[in-house]
Amino acid sequence: MDQPVDSVHRGAYHQFRRLLLGWYGKHQRTLPWRGESDPYRILVSEIMLQQTRVAVVEGRYKKFVAQFPTVKKLARAREQTVLAAWSGLGYYRRARNLHAAAREITKAGGFPQSAESLRELPGIGRYTANAVASIAFGEPVAVVDGNVKRVLERFTGRSFNETQYWQHAESLLDRNSPGDFNQAMMELGATVCLPGKPLCQACPVVDLCASRGPEARRKREARSKAVVRYAFCLRNGSVLLQQRPLSSSLMPGMWEFPPVKTGGNTRSAPLLKLKHSITTTDYTVFVHQITSKKGGGRWVALSGAKRLPLTGLARKILERITNA
Ligand code: ADE
Repeated sequence: MDQPVDSVHRGAYHQFRRLLLGWYGKHQRTLPWRGESDPYRILVSEIMLQQTRVAVVEGRYKKFVAQFPTVKKLARAREQTVLAAWSGLGYYRRARNLHAAAREITKAGGFPQSAESLRELPGIGRYTANAVASIAFGEPVAVVDGNVKRVLERFTGRSFNETQYWQHAESLLDRNSPGDFNQAMMELGATVCLPGKPLCQACPVVDLCASRGPEARRKREARSKAVVRYAFCLRNGSVLLQQRPLSSSLMPGMWEFPPVKTGGNTRSAPLLKLKHSITTTDYTVFVHQITSKKGGGRWVALSGAKRLPLTGLARKILERITNA
């Protein structure tokens, strides 16, 4: 039966968010940066938490923000003073970058208000920018760190490459409470979904998890099949793509080939047939060459299409068609 990829996972993802956030509300650790709304302090905590254990960061964070309570105070300090305050945390490049970032923020006259603008600061990558923007500003952007990677892989029972981790984290994200959701994912990985021996009996999402104990094996075997069809429409070296709604719970804002409904333009022999699996569903994907397509979409030069944030499936189709 043909069905949209979305509908299969929406229910489970919705449940996952609700259960995880409920658990986090009750079981989160009391940490000095929890409940903090000052983006500068959140930035300090997130930079310290990269490469340093929570137990070590706890004490050092309190001292650091007592010594440099505002971004201006940090900007005005001498580098040697900042490095001294960082002693014991290691990876001193983080301190130099944080100091340089504080100077840029002060010079610019205000704290950057989005993940995108945070990433322009020295030492701030996608993880830190998204952590700060989601926690301080409620921006719906996901984070991926070692803990989140483990939770994603266990939950789905799949393994991912770097791009796919981010795609899955974005599609699972609770867009109404992104800050709490991101922290809950990291908290679950740090306290329950442990690397060696996960504490599945304490896990709020155990019933949805593809990897828990013997149950998981049965569940993994209970796979379903579905057929999906997409249009490949090529004109003057450009291909028609469309963007998924930003409100979609699965892969929001990502680009894909226009889906074709059964009975739509599918009488012609497919240009391409391939297999694609998402969690417990194995999709047979047909791509039909279509000369004209009603409805929306954007013409994108075939040569540049792979630079767009494509869904994993769209990328696979594109690679097959262009033999890239
Ligand atoms: N690790 C890094 N940042 C974190 C946060 N805000 N909550 C839990 N674990 C984290």
